[in-house]
Amino acid sequence: MNTFVSIAIDGPAGAGKSTMARMLADRLGYSYVDTGAIYRTIGLFLSICGISPKDVDGITRLIDEASIQVEYDEQGMQHMLLNGQDVTGELRTPEMSDYASKISALKVVRDVLLDLQRDLAGTRNVVMDGRDIGTVVLPRANVKIFLTASPEVRAKRRLLELQAKGDKKSSFDKVLQEIRERDKRDETRAVAPLKCAPDAVRLDTSELSIEESAAAMEKIVKERLG
Ligand code: DC
Repeated sequence: MNTFVSIAIDGPAGAGKSTMARMLADRLGYSYVDTGAIYRTIGLFLSICGISPKDVDGITRLIDEASIQVEYDEQGMQHMLLNGQDVTGELRTPEMSDYASKISALKVVRDVLLDLQRDLAGTRNVVMDGRDIGTVVLPRANVKIFLTASPEVRAKRRLLELQAKGDKKSSFDKVLQEIRERDKRDETRAVAPLKCAPDAVRLDTSELSIEESAAAMEKIVKERLG
């Protein structure tokens, strides 16, 4: 039996999962596990290999050559190591978002990453965010929250995030279109699609500030953990 507490935060791209989950983990003194970064790392490996996200045979052949490790620095920030090299800074680009979303639909990819995610929750208290944490990865999580917001609000947030990183090319319409495409792909894939677990609390942050969303999440956690 797992003696550690796990909090699962699922939801679509740009719903504020990583900001909220990180804040919650800091307040509780838990480790924050960004599972999107894990999918992006395997995506980076496969894209460096020059494999098309549609080439299931090629992916199946190569995937075991990727050694993926999750590490935490002194500030508690998650770092992704790919075959021993820290690739954290290379993961959050629009190209990797698209590639990771495509390969994450494949069973072979999800199977390889499942144990890694479960092992992390088996060794520490975690706030883990992703798409299928409450439904597949940690079905017995102590608390499950499904965080969402309208596509327009999520696109606005994502654009600000990209601009803050110096991106001058992306426009609102382009980001909105990418979010809609990614939602559709993540929600309609056959394996572990994005969906709200029946025992998850649904929280729509469209009208909420970061502080209001964080307060609402803390309330849910307190009620569930007692
Ligand atoms: O959360 P993110 O945007 O960094 O995730 C990138 C992609 O990875 C996302 O489009 C879907 C996939 N993903 C997934 O399928 N399951 C997870 N638990 C986390 C991410």
